[in-house]
Amino acid sequence: MAEPLRIALAGLGTVGAGVIRLVEANAALIARRAGRPIEIVAISARDRSKRRSVDITPYTWEDDMVILGERADVDVVVELVGGSDGSAPACARTTIEAGKALVTANKAMIAHHGLELASKAEAAKVPLKFEAAVAGGIPVIKGLREGAAANEFERVYGILNGTCNYILSTMEDTGRDFADVLSEAQAKGYAEADPAFDIEGTDAAHKLSILAAIAFGTAVDFRSVETTGITRILAADIAQARTLGYVIRLIGMAETDTNGDGVERLFQRVQPHLVPFDHPLAHVDGATNAVVAEGNFSGRLLFQWRGRR
Ligand SMILES: NC(=O)c1ccc[n+]([C@@H]2O[C@H](COP(=O)([O-])OP(=O)(O)OC[C@H]3O[C@@H](n4cnc5c(N)ncnc54)[C@H](OP(=O)(O)O)[C@@H]3O)[C@@H](O)[C@H]2O)c1
Repeated sequence: MAEPLRIALAGLGTVGAGVIRLVEANAALIARRAGRPIEIVAISARDRSKRRSVDITPYTWEDDMVILGERADVDVVVELVGGSDGSAPACARTTIEAGKALVTANKAMIAHHGLELASKAEAAKVPLKFEAAVAGGIPVIKGLREGAAANEFERVYGILNGTCNYILSTMEDTGRDFADVLSEAQAKGYAEADPAFDIEGTDAAHKLSILAAIAFGTAVDFRSVETTGITRILAADIAQARTLGYVIRLIGMAETDTNGDGVERLFQRVQPHLVPFDHPLAHVDGATNAVVAEGNFSGRLLFQWRGRR
């Protein structure tokens, strides 16, 4: 068997700890499928002394995540810290400039700096992978880019934020108000202490801009996403929608349209939608993500995952 692929992990939170568990539990299977083992050699996070859900003692600790990519024994840096600015993009740039592959789950960073990082990665001839940045565990980027590569997409849309979907579907099931359900979501860990990023639609807009770039072959353009969150949805709106045969979901949608003047443009919107009962997205409940892509030959493709947010 070939030499191990040596990875470094930046970030040991929900996703980082999950990656350690997965790499340890499925080590033999991954080695068999990939033709070489994956070995975690170095890790970094904010606080070395923090109690963690995984044993990190087998791995070398680095205080500064930015230098992980410069280590001679690291082939790939996996960035699982988050944030559009600060340590995460600094780590990403250093890694690529050092000629190492970068894997990231950081949608905020890809939405804001994806083009710059992709250009740097292309120049350095290193892979830049961000599958988990959109809809977590759903392999939707690979699905659209490779699985459905021969299709022209007319529209791509979905439920891209689990926190909002948990709140809306719980309001629908219980008749309770937004603020009440938001507090419960925070208590259960489905919403952050500062939930603005989720409930105002920014997180979904980050993901939509990445999804749109993949589906339509355009540059990531987060700034042109029209975004409206769910903070103004009332229990009464949901009840009224129900009597008319609809549920309310926060939907991110990207589609091309000539808008009457013959010039094709990409439109990207995140907003609460009325979804008819007979549409598959009407049955996506709880902290779940789902993506629908409509290809001109594949027809409607549905990707679904139960995410955390
Ligand atoms: N959670 C999900 O379901 C999910 C799904 C898809 C994508 N993502 C993305 O994955 C990334 C990580 O998410 P998460 O939920 O795992 O976040 P998280 O639980 O908050 O973990 C963040 C990690 O980053 C470390 N960190 C934060 N600031 C740092 C800094 N300045 N320098 C070094 N380390 C720092 C933290 O260190 P300490 O542990 O020492 O505090 C922690 O280990 C984010 O980009 C997120 O958007 C998350």
